[in-house]
Amino acid sequence: MKNIKNDHSNFPDVRLRRLRKNQAVRDLLQETRLSARELILPLFVEEGLKKPQDIGSMPDIKRFPLDDIVQELEKAADLGIRAAILFGLPAEKDARATSAFDDNGIVQQAIQTVRKHFSDNMVIITDVCLCQYTSHGHCGLISKGKIDNDSSTSTLGKVAASHARAGADIVAPSAMMDGQVLAIRQALDKEGMGDVAIMGYSAKQASPLYAPFRDAAHSSPEFGDRKSYQMPFANAREAMREIESDIAEGADIIMVKPAIPYLDLIYRARQSCSLPICAYSVSGEYALIKAAALEGWVDENAVMTEFLTAIKRAGADMIITYHAMQMAKLLQ
Ligand code: PBG
Ligand code: ZN
Repeated sequence: MKNIKNDHSNFPDVRLRRLRKNQAVRDLLQETRLSARELILPLFVEEGLKKPQDIGSMPDIKRFPLDDIVQELEKAADLGIRAAILFGLPAEKDARATSAFDDNGIVQQAIQTVRKHFSDNMVIITDVCLCQYTSHGHCGLISKGKIDNDSSTSTLGKVAASHARAGADIVAPSAMMDGQVLAIRQALDKEGMGDVAIMGYSAKQASPLYAPFRDAAHSSPEFGDRKSYQMPFANAREAMREIESDIAEGADIIMVKPAIPYLDLIYRARQSCSLPICAYSVSGEYALIKAAALEGWVDENAVMTEFLTAIKRAGADMIITYHAMQMAKLLQ
């Protein structure tokens, strides 16, 4: 922008307030609009649950028994939401994440149930990771005390294929293993499932904002942390490399996660590629807003609207948010 000196001022010819004078004018001029159709509802399905359970650090969000998810998704569909991302919480965990690729596993049953009820009227996305299914809680398999990349990607391929067989439209690998998108693409294509899309959790930061999710999904690592696979959050160029490598491996949609602290990455990704971009506004972002709202310190609907609008303005095409239902309600 050029440096405007006082004597070059275009005032009073230009008065920007003309276009803000009342709500009707402001509505006409609004550049970024939200719609329920671009919101993705996260849903936790827990094996063996009898009734929905509250999650302490995520007020208004619940873990659901298999029998309750259709009803919950019907509520979302009534509000105009057309996509959900499913997270499974299995009864059994082991070192090899066996329950993650069981065709009768909890998330596979959930996919079948949703597909049967909604046919093609709900986009079913599934989180493809191992951390809810491994006894040690890491996103990959462990060999000699380290997260082993290549055995992890082949397991992730098996997990994605089982989700696809159950009826998923989009599989979303979140383990941050190198080559995971390629391994999944090959696993899907080998079974003739070329029409199942991959949404890579491409630029996924090692963020403390996942804490409420790990509480919800019982998926905290038993030792160490996730910093050898998730992104260092100070590195924007490295985030672009992650995105480029997911694209080269065959991702159909890329993701930036979390969302609000990383609007610059969403914007950069929007400038540098043509793929659809998903932003994941994570559990901690939700919890921060919710906690302040419950204290009466901020207006929840107003902050939610501002944050989600900012994420879209930065360049996201779709947003995974725990506020999906509340936002969709407000948009009605
Ligand atoms: C699984 C997964 C996580 C999230 C999405 N998929 C947790 C993690 O990586 O620790 C976080 C989502 C959230 O905080 O809402 N790998
Ligand atoms: Zn994981």
